[in-house]
Amino acid sequence: MSKGVGEAPGKILLIGEHSVVYGHPAIAMPVEGARARVEVDLARDGRIEIEAPDIAQRAVEGQPTPARLAPLQRLAGSVRELFGEPGVGLRVCVRSSIPVGRGMGSGAAVAVALVRAICAALDRKLADDQVEELAMEAEREFHGTPSGVDVAVTARRQAVYFVRGRTPQPIAAGESVFRFVIADTGIEAPTMAVVEEVRLARERDQARLDALFWELGLMASVAREIIRCGAPAEMGVCMSHAHAILKEVGVSSPELDALVHAALSAGALGAKLSGAGRGGVMIALVEDTAAEARVAAALRDAGAVGLFSAALSR
Ligand code: PMV
Repeated sequence: MSKGVGEAPGKILLIGEHSVVYGHPAIAMPVEGARARVEVDLARDGRIEIEAPDIAQRAVEGQPTPARLAPLQRLAGSVRELFGEPGVGLRVCVRSSIPVGRGMGSGAAVAVALVRAICAALDRKLADDQVEELAMEAEREFHGTPSGVDVAVTARRQAVYFVRGRTPQPIAAGESVFRFVIADTGIEAPTMAVVEEVRLARERDQARLDALFWELGLMASVAREIIRCGAPAEMGVCMSHAHAILKEVGVSSPELDALVHAALSAGALGAKLSGAGRGGVMIALVEDTAAEARVAAALRDAGAVGLFSAALSR
């Protein structure tokens, strides 16, 4: 029986995390160096089995399903139903180099890769927005009320200007290359819990939180123009300012602040946490490859457990 493979990249949020949940714009881009890859083999027995060797988990029908794999098992079932193939068995193998729970969109990437792998195995096609709609099913289970930005970026594999509920707009960079170093604190921070804490903080002090979200949203719009014009130095200022606002929102941590400080001290143009915060990753914008090496070394010395890079260009 036939086999299908699907892949999808990780992502970083350049600006607009948390405020995007409340309807403000955000900018995010893929990280091609961190990827999810899903292989699907069809079987005749009608069973869906999922194996995730990187996290040493396995879901086999008739046995208790590990919490991390349950949304994927349901998603595989939905895709099979959509194609009118409820009786086909699926043997799924999920591999991913995207760290889990670090704000790099691992759940969204795995969901998109899974949908694509099933499509390939069944020799069917879906439009990007259909892939996104299906992947959002799993993303809702992973994150509660996700804005959808992770799924949009990983499915489209391009930088987007994203407003919840609207079609994401691709962002074209101007002349310059925007180079990012991504550093992992090694601390897993569940997005759903952090988003819920922010919701409660907003309930207590709505005017203050809404003003902070408004400022982040405004900066996302400004950043879009800065990227279009190709002005990395200005982008750096925006990013560092966004980090200061996210600290006020209450989602940074001593570890994230230490990495941001280390990156700026080593000459980064700007630095901020990326994703839900509390743990996860931070990003630093650097001028060129020499600065990239310098900043990466400083981040490692300051305790980063993993480093990635990403570049946004024309
Ligand atoms: O999945 P994360 O950690 O990158 O968080 C996504 C960003 C949030 O704005 C905090 C949540 C969301 O759904 O957009």
